[in-house]
Amino acid sequence: MTKILVDGVEVDVPGEFNLLQACEEAGAEVPRFCYHERLSIAGNCRMCLVEVKGGPPKPQASCAMSVKDLRPGPNGAPPEVFTKSPMVKKAREGVMEFLLLNHPLDCPICDQGGECDLQDQALVFGGDSSRYHENKRAVEDKFIGPLVKTEMTRCIHCTRCVRFTAEVAGTSDMGAIGRGEDMEITTYLEGATPDLGNIKKLRQSTLWTR
Ligand code: FES
Repeated sequence: MTKILVDGVEVDVPGEFNLLQACEEAGAEVPRFCYHERLSIAGNCRMCLVEVKGGPPKPQASCAMSVKDLRPGPNGAPPEVFTKSPMVKKAREGVMEFLLLNHPLDCPICDQGGECDLQDQALVFGGDSSRYHENKRAVEDKFIGPLVKTEMTRCIHCTRCVRFTAEVAGTSDMGAIGRGEDMEITTYLEGATPDLGNIKKLRQSTLWTR
């Protein structure tokens, strides 16, 4: 177990915990989009930034840093993490502004309005205005099977769906293409994954050779 101070509250946590888990253990709320405790760490939304005392002079993604990677303070004092410092607040506002650059701001007409993590976190951790005045991009909706409706223009590329399908469902149907503003989450095969078992059976059957 490792001692760590989160906003002045001391907690004892396993060294393998990441800072986000340690902050939760200390009762501090850390916003996040891409992190999920059952999925691998992607560290791509940058919403979970915290300040680490004595660390590099920039906010750290708390989901992607382990408690055991922190250095103790002078005289062996426990490492300190801040989740509400001015640096963290400013960084979160910047990240939120960035995530919303291309996101439509029409929550009242969105089906998810009122029960949306993005909306809630923008309200609590975001700024009150955006400096972005250019046209927003639009992304075509994707067909990923009859059970899921997509609104790809609203996607913020947290990649949870990609990691879920790869790590839990065990298929590699989803992925991201492009970078920066051109990045899109897509299903390479539009949900029409061939059943390899079936293809093998077909190959062996006489029907295939006719
Ligand atoms: S939750 Fe840590 S980077 Fe997304």
